[in-house]
Amino acid sequence: MAPLVRKFALTAHVTASVGWLGAVGGSLALSIAGLASRDPQLVRAAYLMLKVIGEFVLVPLAFASLLTGLVGSLGTQWGLFRHYWVLAKLVMNLFAVIVLLLYMQTIGYLAGAAAKITSSSRGLLELRNPSPVVHAGAALALLLVATTLSVYKPRGIRYGLRKQHEQRSVSRAAAVATPTASQAGEVVP
Ligand code: HEM
Repeated sequence: MAPLVRKFALTAHVTASVGWLGAVGGSLALSIAGLASRDPQLVRAAYLMLKVIGEFVLVPLAFASLLTGLVGSLGTQWGLFRHYWVLAKLVMNLFAVIVLLLYMQTIGYLAGAAAKITSSSRGLLELRNPSPVVHAGAALALLLVATTLSVYKPRGIRYGLRKQHEQRSVSRAAAVATPTASQAGEVVP
């Protein structure tokens, strides 16, 4: 990948991934407000906004992080399976996307119910649900781990480099054991 294109891809990846983390932080604050508040209007607003943030920010950024991550891996020397930290992020990202899509159904139900209940304050307060807090908290922890892995890029677990080294040693040993045709004095066509 040309250096300029690579910088662009990395900028897109960091913007999407860290933007996703920030949006999850905002969702966690709204989820806590929705769960802890005794104000029915705040509960309604929290669940309605959680749906909007989920649909228009979390889901697009999660997919953007995954796609730009794949471009940054496959288009550079990092590769997809050469380093455990890249592979770990891929698994974490795929897991987070699946859970996010399932969570969107829960938040869709909560927001739909919050929009329908117009008169009963009690009904709105009964809607309070720990699921958004649990999901946002777990997602925040997972994305913090992914960000830390990305910045530190742990060296001790470089699967790909070890494999390359092993392969090079094997081919060197094979070359010593069997001399090439020219070394053996044969005429190579
Ligand atoms: C789970 C969410 C993710 C977060 C929060 C995240 C975060 C980051 C950050 C902050 C960097 C910049 C590190 C630096 O330049 O020092 C980075 C780079 C990178 N990420 Fe991710 N990432 C995520 C997902 C992925 C996925 C799914 C892949 C692979 C499929 C991936 C592959 C890479 C690669 C290869 C780089 C280095 C790119 C380069 O140097 O050109 N990331 N990531």
